[in-house]
Amino acid sequence: MPDVYAAIAHTPLEMQERLAKVLELRAADPQQGRMLDSYLGRIEFPPKARVLEVGCGTGSVARKLARRPGVAETIGIDLSELFLERARELSSGIARLSFLKGDARSLPFKDASFDAVVFHTTLCHLPEPETALEQAFRALKSGGWLAVFDGDYSTASVGVGDFDPLQASVQAAMAALVHDRWLIRRLAKLAACAGFLNPRLDTYGYVESSEPGYMLTIIERGADLLASSRSIGPEMAAAIKAEARRRAKTGEFFGQISYASLVARKPR
Ligand SMILES: C[S@@+](CC[C@H](N)C(=O)[O-])C[C@H]1O[C@@H](n2cnc3c(N)ncnc32)[C@H](O)[C@@H]1O
Repeated sequence: MPDVYAAIAHTPLEMQERLAKVLELRAADPQQGRMLDSYLGRIEFPPKARVLEVGCGTGSVARKLARRPGVAETIGIDLSELFLERARELSSGIARLSFLKGDARSLPFKDASFDAVVFHTTLCHLPEPETALEQAFRALKSGGWLAVFDGDYSTASVGVGDFDPLQASVQAAMAALVHDRWLIRRLAKLAACAGFLNPRLDTYGYVESSEPGYMLTIIERGADLLASSRSIGPEMAAAIKAEARRRAKTGEFFGQISYASLVARKPR
């Protein structure tokens, strides 16, 4: 199953609407916010910094970047018109923040335009992450900062025992949502090959047990995908969703993903 984000320009609008809601739901999660703050805190933004977020979606990370001390201008680029429209609506009133259509593989900016380039859960969706990192390198000023944050999605787990059927659902969703679930494992090497120095890699554990939100959306999406590919029938898909909601209600839910960030610099 192809990654819907990788082919976002061809993804039906109804699905893009659904993904836009999931992106904002995830951004509102305090655990997600703490991981974001943690790695952004490792970037030493120079005064009047110009910052680019590549694959900005509905703009939640760009909104945070625009509010950071020292950041004078933030630009978010994405290929989805629908996401960009939502990003503009949600950021009205935030100064010096703009969104435009652009492709990570050929950034529409001159060389040495930015002090920092951020990829937040975007690089794993790109079929050519090498090209995107080369483009980030080109668009950065010397000494500029690269920050990449992604799920180590091969670790996504909701099973509470052997052969838990909810796990099959999560694996189906991850296969459909993420082009490269193993990207994190080769990220340091990719950054070094693109010319970046001093990569710092950190990992974070993300867990949902009481009041799950994001992981429930993943299970539901996986169950729908398994049903639409006829791996299971609609009754089984409904049963998987019901079981996930039951566990959430009774306090038996457990969902976990490891995330990682890499912060590195362009040589001076
Ligand atoms: C999982 S979303 C992350 C969005 C946002 N960074 C966030 O964390 O909320 C991945 C984003 O990458 C975008 N994307 C996919 N391929 C792209 C490309 N070639 N150039 C720019 N953006 C792309 C998608 O449209 C989507 O908004």
